[in-house]
Amino acid sequence: MDLRSCGAVFSAVLAGCVLVFGVTGIGRAQQHGDIGKSLPATNLSSEKQADPNLPRPAPGFANARVADNPLAPDARPVGEKTCIACHQLEADHFTHTLHALGLHVANRSDPNIPVCEACHGPGSAHAQNPQAKGSIIAYTKNGGTPIEVQTKTCLTCHAGGPRDHWAGSVHQRNGLSCSDCHNPMAKFSVEGSMAKRSINDTCATCHKDIRAQFDRRSHMPLPEGQMSCDDCHNPHGALTNNGNPMLNFPLSKTNTVNETCWQCHAEKRGPFLWEHPPVRESCLNCHTPHGSNNNTLLTLPIPALCQQCHASSAHAGGLQTRQGTANGARPEPQMIGRGCLTCHASIHGSNAPSGPRFHQ
Ligand code: HEC
Ligand code: HEC
Ligand code: HEC
Ligand code: HEC
Ligand code: HEC
Ligand code: HEC
Ligand code: HEC
Ligand code: HEC
Ligand code: HEC
Ligand code: HEC
Repeated sequence: MDLRSCGAVFSAVLAGCVLVFGVTGIGRAQQHGDIGKSLPATNLSSEKQADPNLPRPAPGFANARVADNPLAPDARPVGEKTCIACHQLEADHFTHTLHALGLHVANRSDPNIPVCEACHGPGSAHAQNPQAKGSIIAYTKNGGTPIEVQTKTCLTCHAGGPRDHWAGSVHQRNGLSCSDCHNPMAKFSVEGSMAKRSINDTCATCHKDIRAQFDRRSHMPLPEGQMSCDDCHNPHGALTNNGNPMLNFPLSKTNTVNETCWQCHAEKRGPFLWEHPPVRESCLNCHTPHGSNNNTLLTLPIPALCQQCHASSAHAGGLQTRQGTANGARPEPQMIGRGCLTCHASIHGSNAPSGPRFHQ
């Protein structure tokens, strides 16, 4: 930051302080007066009539209305100017967000379209007595607003699509609010209005154990920033048939485990001339998604992995050491190096005419 912008920020903050202190004084002096009228003009508010030459607001914002707050049924809207008088700092941060952009354009074209009050509800009761819990729609745990009211407010504009299954989802049932993951008050993340710097950091605030698994030796490139939790999960809810954990997983984006994996590993999809049944059934038969200390995200090292299912059926002497040499002095050739894959290389399936044993 150069000195000029530093100076600009400083004077903005100073102006903010002057404004806030000024207003607190006025607020005390005339508790029941119309605070909005007695305030100095701010450049963000809409004092002017609608200007027909301005760009038309985006459809999602053009229909914005003051949110319903059941805890303050008699409150009326006071407008952004009044909120900013006491909340200059929050308003400054908010200016950089997608919602601020959309709502300000809409409000310029039609002054009846609310800005802050689209999410926080009508502000008169709160402006008169900011300490009264629930007088404004708050998105914090102690703000006094029930979680259903919070989520309902966001969902008036964001129902449907990825949030079709929000109601009844594991996050909804466990009392999460939209604001546990999203903070639309400032631009914390590049996209998605997340509460933290990235999607992965946001999930990790609660799922530290899962995030830690990605630090294991074998992992997909999530810590490297090339993928995020929501490549596989829909945090808003999913229609998941929880019958068989091999086939489905919680909050999945697709219907089955394999469909999720095939999105990026299409070459494992087949169809193959010679299919390996466990691969067709579920990748989770051998792989674990979040990280493993074995090679290539395997649930167990080879040969133990294979021997779960092929214990003694395969090869002439079974896959144990040769009879009579219990100390393993002359092991089966197939067991040398314990590498089933040196011979069965195309383990996910083979298209070679002579590949029924996945040798090629
Ligand atoms: C007269 C000054 C004043 C005005 C005007 C005002 N607020 Fe506040 N607001 C406060 C104060 C003070 C607090 C802190 C209250 C507390 O800590 O109990 C607060 C708290 C809040 C909170 C946090 C509630 C919580 O507990 O999480 C929100 C949200 C909020 N205000 C939004 C608004 C909005 C939106 C407007 C305009 C409609 C507005 N405020 C107008 C003074 C004001
Ligand atoms: C898109 C919806 C939305 C809009 C529009 C919006 N807010 Fe908020 N506001 C929120 C959410 C969600 C939170 C809770 C953030 C968190 O988790 O701390 C919040 C929190 C706040 C707080 C509490 C302090 C804080 O930052 O957590 C204040 C004060 C506040 N908003 C004021 C405003 C004002 C003033 C405006 C208009 C300039 C505004 N809000 C516009 C959604 C909104
Ligand atoms: C007045 C309608 C309205 C309300 C209320 C509203 N939003 Fe939005 N929001 C929009 C529109 C329009 C967009 C931009 C188009 C889109 O992504 O759907 C948007 C975008 C978003 C995005 C994507 C941002 C990005 O950078 O990609 C998130 C996340 C979001 N809103 C969350 C929320 C949350 C959480 C709340 C409640 C605190 C909320 N919204 C309240 C209208 C609204
Ligand atoms: C458990 C965390 C979490 C919760 C809770 C959550 N979201 Fe999201 N949301 C996300 C993530 C992650 C994304 C993806 C962001 C991206 O891809 O940029 C997202 C994306 C969005 C988007 C933009 C893209 C889209 O899907 O249209 C909107 C709008 C949105 N969420 C609204 C909401 C609303 C409304 C609620 C509350 C009912 C909510 N979210 C609750 C994590 C969450
Ligand atoms: C505010 C805390 C919080 C945040 C943030 C959060 N979660 Fe959760 N999540 C929970 C709680 C609580 C549960 C239910 C209890 C449990 O199973 O751990 C849960 C459950 C889940 C489950 C289902 C677990 C099961 O066994 O059924 C998945 C999957 C999940 N979260 C993914 C995510 C993803 C992906 C994100 C980030 C987009 C995220 N969560 C962000 C709190 C959170
Ligand atoms: C490559 C896809 C993928 C990615 C990326 C992914 N998950 Fe998962 N997740 C799964 C699958 C598949 C399961 C089911 C695993 C099982 O049953 O062993 C699962 C299960 C879960 C569960 C519930 C079961 C458990 O192990 O507790 C939670 C919680 C969870 N994931 C959170 C996250 C979080 C948080 C992130 C990001 C840090 C994330 N996931 C990234 C695919 C993924
Ligand atoms: C969003 C894309 C994406 C999805 C979805 C995805 N992967 Fe990956 N996966 C990757 C990337 C990228 C790599 C790293 C490839 C590389 O380094 O060449 C990788 C690597 C792997 C590896 C090799 C790891 C190693 O240590 O060499 C395995 C095994 C794997 N994925 C299995 C799965 C499984 C199982 C699923 C489904 C649960 C899945 N992947 C879903 C992108 C994805
Ligand atoms: C029968 C066990 C088994 C199943 C089931 C399985 N894999 Fe694998 N996978 C392996 C083994 C063993 C390796 C190590 C191969 C090697 O080191 O040459 C591997 C390696 C990989 C790799 C990294 C190397 C490569 O070949 O690209 C990816 C990616 C992968 N598997 C994806 C998947 C996907 C996606 C599925 C589900 C469609 C799946 N696997 C199902 C056993 C399995
Ligand atoms: C979850 C169980 C499971 C795991 C783990 C597993 N397989 Fe299989 N495998 C099967 C089944 C079932 C068949 C089909 C057997 C049949 O058709 O008689 C099969 C077939 C085969 C075949 C072809 C043999 C034939 O009779 O057609 C070979 C070779 C094979 N597996 C090698 C391996 C190797 C090597 C591993 C370890 C990397 C492995 N398998 C892991 C279940 C498994
Ligand atoms: C030195 C090469 C080699 C190694 C190492 C090897 N195999 Fe084989 N495997 C073969 C050959 C060759 C066949 C075909 C035998 C036949 O058709 O009679 C075979 C057949 C099989 C079959 C099918 C047997 C049947 O009954 O039809 C299975 C299952 C199998 N191997 C699993 C494994 C497992 C598990 C490992 C690791 C513990 C392993 N193999 C290591 C060469 C090898």
